This record gives sequence, C-alpha cells and structure tokens, in this order.
Amino acid sequence: MKQEILTITENIPVTESVWRMQMEAPGLEEQRPGGFVNVRLDGLFLRRPISVFDSAPGRLTILYKTVGRGTEQMTGLKPGAQLDVLTGLGNGYDLTKAGDTPLLLGGGVGVPPLYMLARKLRGEGKAVKAVLGFNTAAELFAEEEFRALGCNVTVTTADGSCGVKGFVTDALPEEYSYFYTCGPEPMLRAVYRATKTAGQFSFEERMGCGFGACMGCSCKTITGYKRICREGPVLEKEEILWDD
Ligand SMILES: Cc1cc2nc3c(=O)[nH]c(=O)nc-3n(C[C@H](O)[C@H](O)[C@H](O)COP(=O)(O)OP(=O)(O)OC[C@H]3O[C@@H](n4cnc5c(N)ncnc54)[C@H](O)[C@@H]3O)c2cc1C
Ligand code: FES
Repeated sequence: MKQEILTITENIPVTESVWRMQMEAPGLEEQRPGGFVNVRLDGLFLRRPISVFDSAPGRLTILYKTVGRGTEQMTGLKPGAQLDVLTGLGNGYDLTKAGDTPLLLGGGVGVPPLYMLARKLRGEGKAVKAVLGFNTAAELFAEEEFRALGCNVTVTTADGSCGVKGFVTDALPEEYSYFYTCGPEPMLRAVYRATKTAGQFSFEERMGCGFGACMGCSCKTITGYKRICREGPVLEKEEILWDD
C-alpha cells in the first residue's frame, strides 16, 4: 500500500450516474487487476474504496457510481485537481487459474474490476467471454471497451431493454474453463449456485476503517472470517460460506 497524490486528467460521466476518472502521477506503479484504491475526500472521515478499472505505470482509471456524499464530491473534481489516494490495495484476481476460456460475470459497478482482468487475459491469448448485467439500457457502460479487447460480450438487462432479458445467470454460456465475478451480493449468491466450475468472487462490501481494524467487512470462509479490505476483496468459490 502506498499513499500518493494523483493528478486528475479526466473526469467525465459515462451514464447518468456512473463517471470515469483518469489520474496520473510519475511514480505510480501499475495496479493489480481486481485490486482497489482508497480515495480521501474533503470533510469525510473514511476514505472511499474504488476498484481499479485499468492501470499502467503512471496512470490509473476508475469508474464510480454516484450514491452518496463522497462519490457526489468526486464528480465535482476537474482535470488538474489532486487527490490523496491509497494505492496497491487488495489481493486482486489470480490469473493463473483461468484456463483457455475464462468467463467474466459483472453486475453494475461490479463490471469495472473485470476490465483490466479481461485485458490481461486477452494479452495471454485467452478466449474471454464476458456477461455484463445492468438494470436497464440507460445504465449500460463499458460494453464497447470489452468488445474492443476482443472479448465475446453478452449484455443482460433486468427489464429487457437491451440484450438478454434477465440477470447474468440467465446468459451463462455452456462451456467455460473458469469464472471471475463481481457485483451486488444477491448476484454473487446466484452466480455461486449457477456456475459449474471453480472461480473467484470479488466483494465490494461496504467498508469501515479500510485497513483491517474494525472487522466491519468480514466474510465467512471455511478457514474463518476474512476481512475484505485486507485478505480480499477476491475470495475463491471453494472457500466462501454464505450467511443465510
Ligand atoms: C473493494 C471495493 C471496491 C469498490 N469498487 C467500486 C467501483 O469500482 N465503483 C463504484 O462505483 N463503487 C465501488 N465500490 C463501492 C464504493 O466504495 C461506495 O459506493 C462508496 O464508498 C460510497 O461512498 P459515498 O460517500 O458516495 O456514499 P455513502 O454516503 O457512504 O453512502 C450512500 C449510500 O450508498 C450506499 N453504499 C455505500 N457504500 C456501498 C457499497 N460498497 N455497496 C453498496 N452500497 C453502498 C450506502 O448504504 C448509502 O445508502 C467499491 C467498494 C469496495 C469495498
Ligand atoms: S473495513 Fe475495517 S476491517 Fe475491513
């Protein structure tokens, strides 16, 4: 983990409520796919965790949805403004288990952490299938970016206004070697039941302290509780025990 001052180079809406922010700093290291950063905002005691959408040395891109004070404040930041960011957080996805035909399943703001993963897997020559789920066509984002990587993309919308009507679990392909997923918890539970292979889940649970002290982000596993902020946010399917 590193505390860095990043300069915003772009901050634009991509839907009515989702924004894309690009930041730069000369010494910034490339982040891990599935990793996250923790953003400090004026007047807010707790930093706000946001997944890495894409990253290269010196550059970081995030996609964030406006849901409250912190993310609203972020929409007001202009290019040239500086942000205090903790970088290099989270275990990230393990790419070594992907096999030749990995499946990526993202729901809403669970889609962003899958993008850099898709780019890296495509770079290794994998035939990546991505199912991206949204409530409605107006909320759709990142589809074109996944297609531009050469992924086989299926979009689902709950109201049927775009792509397959239903949830990501209504559009699972017959064949895939492994899966990676991120999204709201009801979706993750459904993915857990519907998938046939091993896979990895990224949890975007609400966090408290963000550095392992409060246990507010705990998730039950076969080896005891794991803190999403320290031992996560990615857990393997085999280790997760859902609370009923
Ligand atoms: C590891 C991790 C990665 C994340 N990655 C992303 C990302 O890439 N893009 C993105 O848009 N968001 C992401 N989130 C969620 C993001 O952190 C929250 O939406 C943000 O902290 C809300 O801050 P706020 O001040 O705007 O809202 P608050 O004022 O704190 O809350 C406003 C409302 O949003 C709800 N809310 C807050 N946090 C969450 C949450 N984590 N999940 C569901 N509802 C929440 C609250 O219950 C409340 O109703 C991630 C969270 C985690 C833990
Ligand atoms: S947020 Fe406090 S332990 Fe994870």
